[in-house]
Amino acid sequence: MAAAGSGARAGHENWSSRSAFILAAVGSAVGLGNMWRFPAEAGENGGGAFVLFYIFCVLLIGLPVLLSEVLIGRHGQANAPESVRRLARDSKASEGWSVLASMGVFAAFLILSFYCVVGGWVVYYIGVFASDLFQTGLSGGAFQGRDPEEIKALMPGLFADGTLMAGLNLGFLGVTMFFVARGVSSGIEWVAVYLMPLFFVLFLAITIYGAFTGNFAEAVAYLFTFDFSKLTGEVMLAAVGQAFFSLSLGVAGMMTYGAYANRDTNLGETSGIIAGADTAVALLAGLAIFPIVFAAGLSTNAGPGLMFESLPIAFQQMPFGSAIGLAFFVMIFFAALTSSVSLLEAPTAYVFEKFKLARPVATIIVGAGAAVLGVLSALSFNDLAEFYPLGFIPLFAETNFFDTLDGVTAKLFMPIGAILTCIFVGWIADARLIDSENGLDGALHKLWRALVRFVCPIVLAVILFVGLTS
Ligand code: PHE
Repeated sequence: MAAAGSGARAGHENWSSRSAFILAAVGSAVGLGNMWRFPAEAGENGGGAFVLFYIFCVLLIGLPVLLSEVLIGRHGQANAPESVRRLARDSKASEGWSVLASMGVFAAFLILSFYCVVGGWVVYYIGVFASDLFQTGLSGGAFQGRDPEEIKALMPGLFADGTLMAGLNLGFLGVTMFFVARGVSSGIEWVAVYLMPLFFVLFLAITIYGAFTGNFAEAVAYLFTFDFSKLTGEVMLAAVGQAFFSLSLGVAGMMTYGAYANRDTNLGETSGIIAGADTAVALLAGLAIFPIVFAAGLSTNAGPGLMFESLPIAFQQMPFGSAIGLAFFVMIFFAALTSSVSLLEAPTAYVFEKFKLARPVATIIVGAGAAVLGVLSALSFNDLAEFYPLGFIPLFAETNFFDTLDGVTAKLFMPIGAILTCIFVGWIADARLIDSENGLDGALHKLWRALVRFVCPIVLAVILFVGLTS
């Protein structure tokens, strides 16, 4: 395999095939962002207005940025900041552009820390359903004979127990570290190749079931009725942030994965597949969760607890509820793991290449840092509930540690990282190098270039400005 630009490093790893790359990248994109964050954000931001603007963001901004990121990675064949530096050097531009990826690596580290807290909630529900299945057996719904109020109290019960939540968080992080420490082909790729197909099978089965049993029509109306008056600056910023979060953009993750791609992988086509799969899963997750939310009379703006509070209620009424509930949370666990692995890989690849450490050592260093922040996030639902780290900024007033990390990364780091990526790829990098990497021709190529050069940076800057000042 001939590497581009400065050439591949000795010992640099690659995906074993194009489909392994696609599964790993889809695995990174599809995760808690689709199942947990998308419905919660849609519910908090007025439903249809958010959803349609979200789709607009994926197509016009997310997809072009995604292609830009994997392209930088594949050209550089190294960790994200080094890849940007190499493309800058090959284009005779300032190597200082690598700061865009350094910011991204840092943001990935921050996201990892709170992502594993939510991963811990998933593990908790796996435990709840497994023990229920064990007690009541296969037939009947979940939690037989138990009051729905008791089931609704599960989530607040977990939130009140800081020690349990911190412990589950560390467990989830530990599993993530195990796979990243094993490396690209025997760790990261293994998780994606085995767990993503399983995820899709389980996900389709559960969505079809939900569509037939819940309040489907109301959910469709809620998610797809576009009310222009609800489209405020804040809703737009939330939608852009969600699109980036869901596509794993602006945080160097896709650059890192792109660096393991072979020269013969068509990046334009691959990016389309990744964005398409990710968006389909998000919309289907909305269509699986909101029918239940409406049928159970829950509030749409329940925030981060939405998925975790609504679904157990539905599983109580379903035949085979505890088995289906267990399958559902196991499936979310798989999706979350393939994403957390990519969040850890971006900073780990940077640390071990930069400081010439062994991969497992770098994994432990990054993981230890994420553990500390993760525990603070876990405690922000209980002992540290009144701790507002950026409370002096209006956008983050009365926002706890967990929500601050989530908000700062999705609403600041990701859009700013994406604006810089577009300027770098669209204006600074040598157009011939870019054109030889992107796998697009004709009109599609022209469209992509126009989006990256003009539309994305301008639209993002306007949304960022309006969202931050409104
Ligand atoms: N896209 C992942 C999800 O939707 C989260 C993620 C963000 C992963 C950024 C990597 C980088 O769950």
